[in-house]
Amino acid sequence: MAETLMHALQYDSYGGGAAALKHVEVPIPTPNKDEMLLKLDAISLNPVDWKIQEGVLRPFLPRKFPCIPASDVAGEVVKVGPGVTNFKAGDKVVAALHHFTGGGLAEYAVAKENLTVARSPEVSAAEGAGLPVAGLTAHQALTQAAGVKLDGSGQQVNLLITAASGGVGHYAVQLAKLGNTHVTATCGARNLDFVKSLGADEVLDYKTPDGAALKSPSGRKYDAVIHCAAGIPWSTFEPNLSSNGKVIDITPGPSAFLTFAMKKLTFSKKKLEPLFVSLKKENLNYLVNLVKDGKLKTVIDSKYPLSKAEEAWAKSIDGHATGKIIVEP
Ligand SMILES: NC(=O)c1ccc[n+]([C@@H]2O[C@H](COP(=O)([O-])OP(=O)(O)OC[C@H]3O[C@@H](n4cnc5c(N)ncnc54)[C@H](OP(=O)(O)O)[C@@H]3O)[C@@H](O)[C@H]2O)c1
Repeated sequence: MAETLMHALQYDSYGGGAAALKHVEVPIPTPNKDEMLLKLDAISLNPVDWKIQEGVLRPFLPRKFPCIPASDVAGEVVKVGPGVTNFKAGDKVVAALHHFTGGGLAEYAVAKENLTVARSPEVSAAEGAGLPVAGLTAHQALTQAAGVKLDGSGQQVNLLITAASGGVGHYAVQLAKLGNTHVTATCGARNLDFVKSLGADEVLDYKTPDGAALKSPSGRKYDAVIHCAAGIPWSTFEPNLSSNGKVIDITPGPSAFLTFAMKKLTFSKKKLEPLFVSLKKENLNYLVNLVKDGKLKTVIDSKYPLSKAEEAWAKSIDGHATGKIIVEP
């Protein structure tokens, strides 16, 4: 590898949105112990990337400025650091870069071996890059929090998935339908057919009165809600839950934490559970294999070259993606 510099996008301080992303030439990073240098083929954006720039995790993230953001990548291994045993130069992979380090919006990035999985030729780089944060969140919410078994066994679970057209939601609908579930999903009018095509049994337009009230068209009560939208109060969920129903909130704000605490203190059977994704290699491997086997797809909202990554960033901030936003170096 003759080059020593790479193209990347970085920001120097909190705030500023897409306009604060600067195109820079910086040294190609060096892999340390248990790390690999990847030449990136695709990067997917997640709302957390620009929320970190906004300062939502201040003072913990970003760890330092300037910051090259983004965590979800697919690429080719070009160099392995000491201790890497399962990968070699030339391997195609999908990786979740740790949010502590980021580094995704670039031509090259360093990935930890324990958050990197092999990508077979059936899975395109963009399909693979879409998976880490969004796919793992959907997987964790369904399997760990809602107790859905993705092999189809177990009693039927009545699910509501909000924002089912988004990055997390579109994976959640597809994964849910691998299990024994009835899925009601919310999305905007333009995405009703799309979300049905993912497997949802019933779809609600969130801008209609019934949609805003989250009312199941068939009168079902929900055993679990995978809540991927934001700003819906407990009072809207509560009448729609089964007697033991729970809301799994992936966008919890202060009122959600208060509800969580109140329900716990009062031993309520109806619960709200805030969820934060925990990135696990074995689950990422499972998801990549589902894509390989044609059982899960990454729907691409849009693709941008790295030279226009700030437009992808602005699109994510806008909040109207259908599926995943991809950047290609
Ligand atoms: N806790 C965690 O660990 C974790 C992990 C991943 C993501 N998240 C959070 O989860 C949220 C969703 O992430 P994402 O990647 O799926 O975002 P996304 O891809 O940006 O979601 C955009 C989609 O949400 C739809 N939407 C917005 N408001 C809606 C509403 N009230 N009802 C129904 N649909 C609505 C939009 O539809 P329209 O265009 O029709 O409005 C759009 O299709 C974000 O806030 C993200 O930060 C949390």
